Amino acid sequence: MDTDHVAVLSTPIEQCANAANNERASKGIKTMRRKEDIQKADGKLGVLIPGMGGAVSTTFLAGVEAVRSGIALPVGSLSQMGTIRLGKRFEYRIPRIMDFVPLARLDDLVFGGWDVFEDNCYDAALQAGVLEKEHLEAVRTFLEGLHPWPAVFNQAFVKNLVGPNIKPQTSHLELVESVKTDIEAFRRQHHISRCVMIWCGSTEAHLKPAEVHGSLANFEAGLKSNDPNISPSMLYAYAALTSGIPYINGAPNLTVDIPAMVELADQCQVAIVGKDFKTGQTLMKTILAPGLKARMLGLTGWYSTNILGNRDGMVLENKDSFKTKEESKLSVLETILQPEIYSELYGDFHHKVVISYYPPRGDNKEGWDCIDIFGWLGYPMQIKVDFLCRDSILAAPLVLDLVLFIDLAQRAAMAGIQEWLSFYFKSPQCGADLYSEHDLFIQLMKLKNTLRYLMGEDQITHLGLDYYYHL
Ligand SMILES: NC(=O)c1ccc[n+]([C@@H]2O[C@H](COP(=O)([O-])OP(=O)(O)OC[C@H]3O[C@@H](n4cnc5c(N)ncnc54)[C@H](O)[C@@H]3O)[C@@H](O)[C@H]2O)c1
Repeated sequence: MDTDHVAVLSTPIEQCANAANNERASKGIKTMRRKEDIQKADGKLGVLIPGMGGAVSTTFLAGVEAVRSGIALPVGSLSQMGTIRLGKRFEYRIPRIMDFVPLARLDDLVFGGWDVFEDNCYDAALQAGVLEKEHLEAVRTFLEGLHPWPAVFNQAFVKNLVGPNIKPQTSHLELVESVKTDIEAFRRQHHISRCVMIWCGSTEAHLKPAEVHGSLANFEAGLKSNDPNISPSMLYAYAALTSGIPYINGAPNLTVDIPAMVELADQCQVAIVGKDFKTGQTLMKTILAPGLKARMLGLTGWYSTNILGNRDGMVLENKDSFKTKEESKLSVLETILQPEIYSELYGDFHHKVVISYYPPRGDNKEGWDCIDIFGWLGYPMQIKVDFLCRDSILAAPLVLDLVLFIDLAQRAAMAGIQEWLSFYFKSPQCGADLYSEHDLFIQLMKLKNTLRYLMGEDQITHLGLDYYYHL
């Protein structure tokens, strides 16, 4: 036994960290591929979308086609427009991310999906009201060719939605099989090499983690007994993972954020990530809060209210669906500000989030934040933010990046939770013994350092002393 090592483990936190490390090691370290060993992005990449007729999905689909046709720029997409610094600053190596890592080409993306409504994606996009008719006309033929397959749907999970395009309510296992059949038919029809699935469906009613979610064995027993704690999104995810398809969760639903699905992802060697796209007000929060904390400014309250009038807003009128969203939105500040460590600054702040469904605004949300802060000697100050944003315009590029990056992760054999993609989520999923990282700038550094690591480049620490001293 290494007694020296034990002797320096003084605090409970260190002991806890050590136990967690040992546990991780005992579970077996997964190997990932790097650089030349990453599978090439050859062939077609199938993008499977539950919720294909929704505002986010149709805005994403129209946008990808507009970019492919050369009539628009992929603004907001890090994978398409972002650069990455490599090596020392005097080397001036700053390639675009899409030229640095082997991502699938936009021309190789093929789309399929499910929705509760049977409208083709052109009609659905008109209905969503995000993009102007003149912009949709330019990609009309493409959108009209996309018809959602009947959905796995259970109204107990989305109370404010009624639609005709649903699979017969058979058993959980039959629904899983039906999703797999849809996927296989799509694969064959389009000669697809690889697929990813991204949930753009409505927010499901709040689910507490239950016994059936606790292990894969429990979950599979629950599938057989049609356990009511298994939601439609979980059936899609189960079908995807057992077909070797990575799963991205754009909503705050539990779905793959349960031990059973993490176990399944590890067993099937498939990548998973979630949850809840980070757009709008939460994006602002994770930009502002790290700044306040960096300057050691205190916080007494953060009141956030939103009005939105799209279908998502209508679904969130239901208190069960709102609870799922609220939990996702509330966790952000606590984690960034660390009140347990900075008790004088953040030990007692009020955080309130309100969402009101207000149809006249459609997808153009307005989010107000009233932020009460204090500075030197405790003197109070206020910040008001009024963000007139467009939810789906902010979400669409995230969908594109996530699809391309999770496909890269899968080709690099990075199975399980993809914490390096936390950048895109309100409630980033991470290992059971870790806490999520919410700070947008730490998340960006983590993402870029992961890409550097994958491609065999040095990590950038921003130390910079080596430019001036012999170290
Ligand atoms: N827009 C944003 O900025 C944003 C940000 C974070 C998260 N989200 C989440 O993304 C999701 C999509 O948002 P949206 O604005 O496009 O909502 P939306 O209501 O326009 O679209 C959701 C679509 O999912 C369909 N649907 C519902 N249940 C389904 C099921 N079981 N199977 C297949 N289809 C199903 C609905 O019919 C609808 O067409 C929501 O969960 C939302 O909370 C959106």
